This record gives sequence, C-alpha cells and structure tokens, in this order.
Amino acid sequence: MSTGIKPKREHFGSKFGIIAAAAGSAVGLGNVWKFPYVTGQNGGGAFLIIYVICVILLGIPVMLSEFTIGRRGQRNVFGSFKRLAPNRPWYIVGIMGVVAAFVILAFYSAVAGWTLEYIVRSVHNSFNMQSTQQLSLSFDSFIVNPFRPVVWQLVFMLLTALIVAGGVKNGIERYSKLLMPLLLVFLVILAVRSLSLDGALKGLEFMFAPDFSKVSAKTVLFAMGQAFFSLSLGMGALITYGSYIGKNENLAKTAVSVSIADTFIALLAGVVIFPAVFAFNIEPTAGPSLVFITLPEIFSHIPFGNIFSLIFFILLAVAALTSTVSVLEVVVAYFSEELRMTRVKATIIASVAISVLGVLASLSFGVLSGYKVGGKIFFDVLDFLASNILLPLGGLLIVVFIGWYLSRKDVLEEISNSGTLKAKFFPYFLFIIKYIAPVAIAVILIYSIFFGSLG
Ligand code: PFF
Repeated sequence: MSTGIKPKREHFGSKFGIIAAAAGSAVGLGNVWKFPYVTGQNGGGAFLIIYVICVILLGIPVMLSEFTIGRRGQRNVFGSFKRLAPNRPWYIVGIMGVVAAFVILAFYSAVAGWTLEYIVRSVHNSFNMQSTQQLSLSFDSFIVNPFRPVVWQLVFMLLTALIVAGGVKNGIERYSKLLMPLLLVFLVILAVRSLSLDGALKGLEFMFAPDFSKVSAKTVLFAMGQAFFSLSLGMGALITYGSYIGKNENLAKTAVSVSIADTFIALLAGVVIFPAVFAFNIEPTAGPSLVFITLPEIFSHIPFGNIFSLIFFILLAVAALTSTVSVLEVVVAYFSEELRMTRVKATIIASVAISVLGVLASLSFGVLSGYKVGGKIFFDVLDFLASNILLPLGGLLIVVFIGWYLSRKDVLEEISNSGTLKAKFFPYFLFIIKYIAPVAIAVILIYSIFFGSLG
C-alpha cells in the first residue's frame, strides 16, 4: 500500500563530495586526451585564450543554469524539465540529453578502453627502449584490431555500470572523492618531469604564446565545442548531478570551483604534453594519438618509468571513469525515475544498449573504416555530433529556458537559496544568459551546421 510519501531522493553527502563528483564528470579524457591535441591543431596559445574566454563567458553561466534546473526540478534531466515546465514541450531538451548521453558514451568508452590496454602495457614494461615510431606503430595496429579494443571497451562499461549501480552516495560520490585528488597529484608529478626535459620551453611557448594568425571562425567553434565537452555541459549530466545537490549549497560557487578545476587540469595536461612533444620532436598537431604515443615516450625516459606510466594510465582511466559514470547516470536516472525501474535494472539496460553503439564506434577504426559519413568514420561522426551539435544545441535550449522561460524570481530564489545568499552577480549572470550566451551559441551552432565538414 502506498503511504503517499515519496521515498527521499538521494543527495550528495558533503561539499567536497559535490565538487569531486562534478569535477569528476568534467575532468576526463576531454582534458588530458582531447584538449592538448585540439589546442595543437588550432594554433596553441591563441586557442587557449579563446578557450578560457569561452569558459568564463559561457561555461560557468551554463553550468550554473544546469545546476539550477536540476536542483529546482529534483528529477532526472527529462523529469526536471517536465516538472519546471508542465504541459510544455521543454521535456524534449531532456530527451535530447539522454540521446546525447548515448552518443558521447559510445565513442568515449572506446578511448577509455584504450587506457586499460595501456595499463596492461605498462605492467609489461612494453614502452621501454621503443622509438617514437615503434610506439606509434603499435598504437595504430592496436586501434584497428577488431578484438582487443572492443573487449577493453566492454570492461570499461562494466566498471562504469558497477559504480552507477552503487548509487549516488555509495557509488558516484565515494569513488570521485577518492580518485580526483590522486589524479591531480600525479599530473603535477608528470608536469614537473616533463618541464625538466631539454627543449621543454619551446613547448610552453607553443602553448602560451598566442599566434593569432591561426585563428579563424573555426577556431572559435572548436574552442566552444571543447569547452562544452570538457565542462560536461549541454546534455544534462550536471542537471542530473544538480538534482543531488543539497538546498543549502552555493550553486554559483560550486560552478566556479568546478570550472576552475577543469580548466586548471586541462592546462596541466597541456604542460605535461607539449614540453614533451617539443623535446621529442613530435608534431604538436599529431592528433588524438598524442597521449598514447608521447606519454609512453616520456615514461621510457624516466627512471622507474614503467611504474609512472602504470600510475598515469590507471589515473587516466579513473578520470575517464568518473566522467563515464556521470554520462551513464543521465540515462540511469531517466530510466529509473521515468520508466520506474530499479537502479540496477536501469543500469544494466542502459549499459548494454550503449555498448552496442560503442562497439560500432570502436570497430570504425578498423574493420568498419570503409563506412564513412561526410568523409568521417563512425567514431568521428559521433564525436562531431556530440561536441559540435548536440551539446551546443542543448546548451542553447538550457540558457533560453533559464533566461526566457523560468521567471526571474524563481531563478533568483534557487540561486540565492531563497534569499539566504546575496548573489550580487545575479544581474550580470542573467544578462549573459538572456542575451550573450544564446546569440553566441546560436551563431556557432549555425556555423557548425552549415559548414558541417569542419575538423
Ligand atoms: N567532460 C568530460 C571530459 O572532458 O572528458 C566528458 C563529458 C562527460 C562530456 C560528461 C559530457 C558529459 F555529460
């Protein structure tokens, strides 16, 4: 018999837990694997400046908007929109978020799986005495293999599912709190080592000295796509996490802390990669493989390098894991709350469905590489669809929802914890969300749709 009392929704247990979980979502392969090569391909320092502007002007306000929707809605991404805008089609944004979660997780788990292969290679000390060319060849032959990358991807999905099945506090929060500080410590150690290589300065120069001759509209598109991806915005991961944030927490402060942590770690990853890239004469624009070739090479030059590399790839896997957890949670929260399944059942169904798409993404490097859409393999199609279309589109609708649909009073009430916090920034925030963010995101979205073959 129903008592009419809804079971209490799970919440994060502490401030640090909230930041660790949200930063865990934000900090991932996007920071360590993607940011350095996107920066490399788009002119180094100039890209960096545009990226930081995107984070401040768009990233933080959009993140705050997501937290606001989630905490006010107290539901999954679909349910939150439905609750805040009853009888309106805003729930479609929620459905889009769930679709984006599928798309992202499919290609993301493929790369996350590669990190597991590299953990095993570190254990076998297989980078030792290898030339760049050998490392590069063995990476290339690994990703086209029809078997190994797929197995690792499925293992990674299983790990993700195990954490998500554990729940918000005992799964997501617990692991984030443990793993995020470790990641930071080891990145710092690696950055110090990389900076002490001969020729390291050239790498820093490339990263920090802006060359605006390389900047085009395309650069801005990539910077924004990357900012959205890196901050986990536009698809409801942070709406879902926002719904687990307690009513007394300061949402704006949380958004700023998470964005700073994410940007700082992306920069730190650049400081690990670029000095090494230049010290070893690798092209800074070498692409996605940078981290799987450059880093093993650095490790092979450090005393006890195999141990460092083992730790690094474990931590890279872990950074990816706290991100995949947040993406899977979007789907699991939706399935369990809207389709009324148990968390475990929802986790199993979501993971299996996503894995099917994921395996296709993995195989598109090898056996399925002949199947292209607009000249891109399936993996790149998913990446482009997510980073350059779904996330900005989701972000656009989220800011329009906060800026133009919800009442100013409601938004202020949520952000100021019913007036308990001063929130002096609120008029600026609202101005950005109402006018600047929608125009900026819309321009980029249109550009991306009409000149869709960028990249
Ligand atoms: N922010 C993650 C990264 O930088 O690797 C990726 C990501 C996670 C994107 C969660 C979107 C998301 F909802």
